[in-house]
Amino acid sequence: MRVFVLTGAGVSAESGLGTFRDAGGVWSMFDLKEVATPEGFARDPAKVHAFYNMRRRVHRDARPNAAHAALSRLERDLPARHPGGALTLVTQNVDELHELAGHRDVIHMHGEALKVRCAACGHVARFTGELSDAVACGGCAQAGGLRPDVVWFGETPMHLARIQEALEQSDLFVAIGTSGTVYPAAGYVAQARRRSIPTLEINLEPSNNARVFDRGIYGPATETVPAWVETLLA
Ligand code: APR
Repeated sequence: MRVFVLTGAGVSAESGLGTFRDAGGVWSMFDLKEVATPEGFARDPAKVHAFYNMRRRVHRDARPNAAHAALSRLERDLPARHPGGALTLVTQNVDELHELAGHRDVIHMHGEALKVRCAACGHVARFTGELSDAVACGGCAQAGGLRPDVVWFGETPMHLARIQEALEQSDLFVAIGTSGTVYPAAGYVAQARRRSIPTLEINLEPSNNARVFDRGIYGPATETVPAWVETLLA
């Protein structure tokens, strides 16, 4: 059984990382056009750096929760429980909590907040400090070209070919903690439905996409995800 799991901000909410669109979410406090678009960065790089410096501090201090731990257990134990069993984990999250919980293969379709990328040479490096125009790239030594290695609105998500291949081979589609608002991720459930595989939403409450799923499990991810993983591995 090949399981495709898509995670969103809800899986990290109980680790203290705010979601984007819930009450008090990140996009109710910041204008996404200013801090999360290429145009916003071109207009005011210092504002964008200040936003991601703040996000980086929050991400650096966060710890994985029981939902991340359960998914890493699923990655480890699924092959032994089901013949041909394998988990593909695609996350929209830019935090590293899946990895900190021991998950080995995480596909970050929206990039990673604790990495920077150089516009001049393309070099990508882990970076946990304060970014500004004065910081030089570790690859080409030029200052001023570094940006967070995340996908902004209007940019193409990462690893799309690999994600499509996994989607086309999966036997079960599960979305966890995502509002189903941002494409292409929000469209994956419809693709799964077209292939007639079972689809499951695990979320605090029914998402915008809930009616597209066959089934929903609702409640906090730290309770629902470990229980679902337990059932799947039983
Ligand atoms: N357990 C489970 N689900 C939760 C929890 C929780 N403890 N807390 C919140 N949720 C759910 C909310 O009900 C909501 O449906 O998580 C979802 C979070 O939705 P969004 O804030 O829209 O986050 P996400 O879907 O990941 O956003 C997608 O939008 O801004 C971009 O790039 C950003 O990757 C992000 C993308």
